[in-house]
Amino acid sequence: MRDKIKKEFSKKEKIFLTQSYFKYPLPEEMLKELSEELKGINRYPSGGGYAKLRQVLAEYVGVKMENILPANGSDEVIEIVSRAYKGEVLIPIPTFSQYEASADRGGLSKILINCLHDGVYSLNYSAQQLKEASLVWICNPNNPTGTRILREKIVDILQKAKGMVVVDECNYEYLGESVVDLIDKYENLIISRSFSKNFGLAGLRLGFAISNPQNIKKLAIFCQYFRVNRMAEKAAEKALKYLDYYQEAWGKMKKVRDKFVKQINELGFFAYDSKANFVLVEFKNKEETERVWKYLKEKGIYTLAGWENEFSGLDDQFIRFTIGDEWEMDRVVEVLSDWCRRGDLNPHRHTPTTP
Ligand SMILES: Cc1ncc(COP(=O)(O)O)c(C=O)c1O
Repeated sequence: MRDKIKKEFSKKEKIFLTQSYFKYPLPEEMLKELSEELKGINRYPSGGGYAKLRQVLAEYVGVKMENILPANGSDEVIEIVSRAYKGEVLIPIPTFSQYEASADRGGLSKILINCLHDGVYSLNYSAQQLKEASLVWICNPNNPTGTRILREKIVDILQKAKGMVVVDECNYEYLGESVVDLIDKYENLIISRSFSKNFGLAGLRLGFAISNPQNIKKLAIFCQYFRVNRMAEKAAEKALKYLDYYQEAWGKMKKVRDKFVKQINELGFFAYDSKANFVLVEFKNKEETERVWKYLKEKGIYTLAGWENEFSGLDDQFIRFTIGDEWEMDRVVEVLSDWCRRGDLNPHRHTPTTP
């Protein structure tokens, strides 16, 4: 097995586990169909406010087209929402950096709430904070911890919040749980989804918001008419016809991820249980983390450390590994275990308490 890992590794040389995108090849037939669409790029995307795309997305999600607002990536959903609901925004750190970045651009006043204590990420907004905020973020599963947020917790926040609650479900297809069924019950709920992480369309940029028609109309005021490009629109329609292919790929990724978490924990490090396509590992301190990050880089393995701009409020003793092919993750484990065996690296453990 080790020989196999090394043989494959020497062929490929570098392993990139930084950005979290869909790492499998896209269905060949789909790419062929999509390349045919290039002939049409002299034309604008479909008019009428993306009626066809909204219909296709609505069918996939199980809502009506009036509940859908397509956007240029879910980054744009974050941006639009931050323009539409001015005031105070609650951001549950450590989390995805763009909630903060969009809040800054929109001139919102940010309240960063630390939700990570002793190895457990748990949303802990106070009733008072929820009463005062105009916008509340929930990232489910959370990036970078990969934590699944329980439905009861989301409902509790929806009931207590006076402002808009946005649940970022850009990794929904890996988690397999959603609060979409609550959009009619709670008028302060918006959900954000993406085609980047699960359908391999990160480079084309397609995301969408899901909410009740009144909220969708309000959000539409804050975005451009032709914000989603024609190829992205066509690609989404086609990708959804290949769901079986994607489901198989998601299943494969989950197996590799769970094996990686287990192996890292067996080495004595602290890997967070993840429901997304990345895994957060906590090391002893900043110094140790820098050594690991540099050592992995020397070995051709590129990862995202806590000090990079991808995350809000992530401390320096963390590294996030995007899940790649099985041999790539095996290689990471091999490099770390060799180092541990030499007695040069000290594993770090929490005894997590239940949230
Ligand atoms: C939690 C979260 N939300 C949103 C995004 C943005 O995704 P995109 O704009 O590619 O749809 C990302 C990308 O890393 C993310 O991790």
